[in-house]
Amino acid sequence: MGEKLWGGRFKKKLDKEIFEFTKSISFDKRLAFYDIEGSIAHAKMLGKSGIISQKEKELLVEGLKEVKKEILKIKFENEEDIHTLVINLLRKRVGDVADKLHIGRSRNDQVVLDLRLYCRNEVKEIIGRIRKLQISLLERAKKLKALTIPFYTHLKNAQCIIFAHQFLAYLQMLERDKERLKESLERIDIMPLGSGAGRGSTLPLDRFFLAKELGFSCVSENSLDAVSDRDFVIEVLSNLSILGMHLSRICEDLILFSSDEIGFIEGDDAHFTGSSILPHKKNPDPLELIRGYSGKIYGDLISVLVTMKGLPLSYNRDMQLDKPPLFDSVEIIKRSISVLGKIISKIKVNEERLKKASAKEFLFSTDLAEFLVTKGYSWQKAHTLVGKLILESEEKKKPIREMSDKHLKKIIPELNKEIISELLEPLKSVRRIKTYGGSSPAEVTRQLAIWERRLKRD
Ligand code: ARG
Repeated sequence: MGEKLWGGRFKKKLDKEIFEFTKSISFDKRLAFYDIEGSIAHAKMLGKSGIISQKEKELLVEGLKEVKKEILKIKFENEEDIHTLVINLLRKRVGDVADKLHIGRSRNDQVVLDLRLYCRNEVKEIIGRIRKLQISLLERAKKLKALTIPFYTHLKNAQCIIFAHQFLAYLQMLERDKERLKESLERIDIMPLGSGAGRGSTLPLDRFFLAKELGFSCVSENSLDAVSDRDFVIEVLSNLSILGMHLSRICEDLILFSSDEIGFIEGDDAHFTGSSILPHKKNPDPLELIRGYSGKIYGDLISVLVTMKGLPLSYNRDMQLDKPPLFDSVEIIKRSISVLGKIISKIKVNEERLKKASAKEFLFSTDLAEFLVTKGYSWQKAHTLVGKLILESEEKKKPIREMSDKHLKKIIPELNKEIISELLEPLKSVRRIKTYGGSSPAEVTRQLAIWERRLKRD
C-alpha cells in the first residue's frame, strides 16, 4: 500500500481487502496525463496567488514534468488512485514540498477536472475518426454512381436507387453524430477546479487563471454542482450509443449485402474470417462484432445513469464507477470506427448481382403508377390498376416485359410494350426522379460534391 492522501484521524491501518475493494488505480491510471496537466496548472495558480512561494511552485512544476515522463513505466498496483500516485511520485522527486500541491484541492474536484480533460480530448479524437470513416464512405460512394440496387422497406424490395445513395445516407447519419459530439464539447468545456470538496475554499484560488491555463472557456458556476455533475459523462455515452447504433445499422446492411442470398458485396480476404468446420465460408465477423459491441455501449450508458440516479449531492464514491464504462465505450467506438472504415475501403461490388436485383419488375410498380398519374389518374385508381397488372403477371406467370400490347392495354389502356420497356429500366427509372434529396443521378452527383467539399473543410 503506497502512502495515502489521508490517514491522520485513523488509529488503524486500512484493511487490505477493503483497500483492494476501494481502489481505482487499475482503471483511473488512464487519467495519468490529465491529472498531471491539471496539477501543473494548480501549482502555477498556487504560486501566482501567493499561496506558495515561487520557488515551491517551480519545484512542483518541474517535478510534475519529470513524473509525466516516468509515470507510464511505473507499476501502479499499490496505490489507491491516480491522484495519490502522482503525489507520491512527486514526493520521491521533490520531497515534502509535494504535499503543498494539494492545497485548496480535493479529489472531488480533481477527478472531475481529469474526466473533463479526458472527455474533451477523446471526443475530439472520435470526431476526427468519424470524419475519416465518412471519407472512406464517400470514396466508396463515388465508385457506385452508375450502379443501381433495390432499396428495402420491411426487408422487402421497394424501388431502384443508385447504390451511392445508400452510402450518402450513411454519411448523413454520421454527420449528425459529429454534430452531437461537437455540441457536447460546449458542456464539457467547464473548469471545475477550485470547487474543493464542494463549497469552494477560504484560500484565494484563482479559478479563471486555472481555466485559462487548461484551455477551458469558462469555470463552473456552482461548486456543489461542479463536484456532483456527471451529466457530461452521460452525454458522451448517449452520443456514443447513438453513434454505435448507426455503426450497427451500417454493419447490418453490409452483412445482409454480403449474404449468399443478396450478394451485392464481398469483403476483402484480409477482413472477413473463416469457419473451423465449413471450408467454403467467408464470414463478416468483424461487422457482427461492431453490431454486437453497440449493445455494450448501451449497457455502459445505462450503468452510469443508474449509478447516478439515486445519489444525494454532492460527491459519493459510487461516482468512481463512471470510469470503466466511459473508458470502455470510448475504446470500443474508436476501434469500431477504424475497423469499419478499413472494411469499407476494400469492399468489392458484384455488379452482376446488382444488375439482376435491379431488373426485378415489381421494383417499378410505383414508376408505372406515377406514369398513370401524369395521364390524369387519381393515385388510388393508378395504384389499383398497377396492382391488377402485377396480379395478372403473377397468376399467368408472365413477366410484364413479355406481355403483348393487347394484353397490356386490356388491363391499362395507356400502356404498351415500348412504354413498359422505358418504365421498367433501372437507370431510366432513377433518372426520372425529380425531387431534391432523392436518388436521381443528378442529385446524387450534387450530394457527392457537397460531401467532398464539406469533408475537406472540416
Ligand atoms: N477515485 C475517485 C473517483 O474516481 C476519486 C477519489 C475521490 N475520493 C474521495 N474519497 N473523495 O471518483
